[in-house]
Amino acid sequence: MRDARLGISTAALHHNLRRVREAAPYSRVMAMVKADAYGHGARIVAETLASADGFGVAILEEALALRAAGIRQPITVLEGVFTPAEMFEAVRQNLTLVIHQEEQVALLEQCKLSGPVNVWLKLDTGMHRLGLAPETAVSAFRRIRSARITGELGLLTHFACADQLESPMTEKQLARFRAVQQVLTRNGELTLPESMANSAGILAWPATHGTWVRPGIMLYGSSPFPDQTAESLGLRPVMTLTSKLIAVRPLKKGEPVGYGASWVADRDTRIGVVGIGYGDGYPRHAPHGTPVLIEGRRVPLVGRVSMDMLTVDLGSVPAQVGDTCVLWGEGLPADEVATRAGTISYELFCKVTARVRREIW
Ligand SMILES: Cc1ncc(COP(=O)(O)O)c(C=O)c1O
Repeated sequence: MRDARLGISTAALHHNLRRVREAAPYSRVMAMVKADAYGHGARIVAETLASADGFGVAILEEALALRAAGIRQPITVLEGVFTPAEMFEAVRQNLTLVIHQEEQVALLEQCKLSGPVNVWLKLDTGMHRLGLAPETAVSAFRRIRSARITGELGLLTHFACADQLESPMTEKQLARFRAVQQVLTRNGELTLPESMANSAGILAWPATHGTWVRPGIMLYGSSPFPDQTAESLGLRPVMTLTSKLIAVRPLKKGEPVGYGASWVADRDTRIGVVGIGYGDGYPRHAPHGTPVLIEGRRVPLVGRVSMDMLTVDLGSVPAQVGDTCVLWGEGLPADEVATRAGTISYELFCKVTARVRREIW
């Protein structure tokens, strides 16, 4: 009866990949499938997006799981590897490694690898999370080259503010990237693959497209920008989280609902109880007024979200036990729910729990 479900639309995934190609027609696409493809299921996403030129994951384990599932495209491990055993395993599985710190350069030198390994050298151009500082990048590059076990070697960076169109940061980061690239390519004598753009870069900063783009959130149908809807960007939601109404109850004016009695009816009304809660990954901090769709009609969430249920104010909306409720997805953008709950759709997607049944649409 309760029936909380997570529907994954493969048609929407295909559509969004087409949208990436339309926005960055001259770039190869590294589809980001880290964190279980932002909670959508890495295997199904990678299988569906078989026409992507490669995939990106955060950690070695994620890459190994994709290889074990039969995914043969290039897979980049964004955090790289940290021990010789991990390095050997990565090479055995033909993974592409990001090298973002000196220790990883030393690890590559240390390991007597039998076969070549493809490497992205990550530059810190201003985000200051991972990456080699421009001053150290040239010597790291030379060391990697002279280790003589590098297959393809490319240059990569990540933007801190590509979603902020007014910010000077992206252009500053791009300029720092180009300066290092110029030295490494001896003013363009050599060519090196380059990768900079995430979804926001793809949609708003064409100068950053380069050889490979790295779309994440736009593939899943959400907007990377706080003030533009996914629909206006031509994206379609991939994940739809639904459940059912498990009770419809009258509530008298002046009576509260839920833990803490935090919401009180200002008129006689009807309360719908939806079979989903924070135990399923719905955000506990979603406030009164967060929209829920009941059979296509928007009603406001009222009262606190509990572990297994949440409550909505039905007012005079005709609704009955068993009606389908959409928490986000088709008809109700995840971005809108996320904003209400003080977070981003990335987090909503990643937090749906194993209790929710997955379905491929
Ligand atoms: C290094 C790197 N590249 C690309 C992406 C994709 O970003 P987005 O989901 O905003 O497109 C991420 C995601 O956080 C990332 O860490």
